Amino acid sequence: MSELKNKVVWITGASSGIGQALAFAMVKEGAKLVLSSRREQELNEVAKKCSCEVLILPLDLSDQSKFNNLAKQVVEHFGSIDVLINNGGISQRSEAAQTSLEVDRKLMEVNYFGAAALTKAVLPIMQKQKSGHLVAISSLSGKFGFFLRSAYSASKFALVGFYESLRLEEEKNNIKVSIVFPGFVHTNISQNALSGDGQKHAKLDNNQKGGISSEKCARDIIRGIKKDKHEIISGGSEKWGILVNRLFPNLFYRILRKKSGE
Ligand SMILES: NC(=O)c1ccc[n+]([C@@H]2O[C@H](COP(=O)([O-])OP(=O)(O)OC[C@H]3O[C@@H](n4cnc5c(N)ncnc54)[C@H](OP(=O)(O)O)[C@@H]3O)[C@@H](O)[C@H]2O)c1
Repeated sequence: MSELKNKVVWITGASSGIGQALAFAMVKEGAKLVLSSRREQELNEVAKKCSCEVLILPLDLSDQSKFNNLAKQVVEHFGSIDVLINNGGISQRSEAAQTSLEVDRKLMEVNYFGAAALTKAVLPIMQKQKSGHLVAISSLSGKFGFFLRSAYSASKFALVGFYESLRLEEEKNNIKVSIVFPGFVHTNISQNALSGDGQKHAKLDNNQKGGISSEKCARDIIRGIKKDKHEIISGGSEKWGILVNRLFPNLFYRILRKKSGE
């Protein structure tokens, strides 16, 4: 069991939803926090509610040029980086046939390349420390495709391939890797999701409305990190889809066909 007390935990997407809930839950664990996302004002609001040492580092996951410099700033400030939680991301609500390639690329840029680039900026620091824990927030859509999620699902599958390879390679440096597969979580993810033309979907979908709270998801993630779990699954009854898909793929697709992507 790994302890998080006094550990330096860097969370992306910390301005809302799961990332914000993770920040508050990490305070209870006694961690020191680095909070990132694009909206500095919202990060400041989150930091005000955190009774611990906080460094705010605004960043855009689609602009990876500053990541090495940001990682250096964390080490200058705190002396180490113990946990990086690649949580920031956007979703999609459009059929593949109606989705422009620009939207496909945007999803990959933010969800996949953003996380991969930040991880590569942090990796030499963790290798030198001979310790660290990398966490990637994938999705149930990183286990199986779903309606209106072609680009999103592709970006979340990509994360799985990247971090599973990394786990094998970095074991020798005592760097751990956990991949998180949330189901439906009640956050702003559907409001912020992109339609096929790049406009915001701007709707709270029924799936999210009926989802678990971001606080419950954060608790599941932290429990999984502390137990060094390779895979952390968090959600309501939809999470059983992983098992049903593996054991009874035909039945699974009969069930999935009747579901709505919204
Ligand atoms: N909610 C769900 O049902 C669900 C299910 C499975 C997986 N997930 C995953 O969980 C993660 C968190 O999502 P959420 O549900 O908490 O949604 P959310 O409330 O919309 O939060 C998304 C976070 O990502 C940040 N972000 C978005 N684009 C960014 C960019 N270009 N650069 C930097 N930060 C960016 C946002 O901050 P700024 O706007 O300030 O940049 C925000 O803090 C995502 O990776 C999502 O795919 C969510």
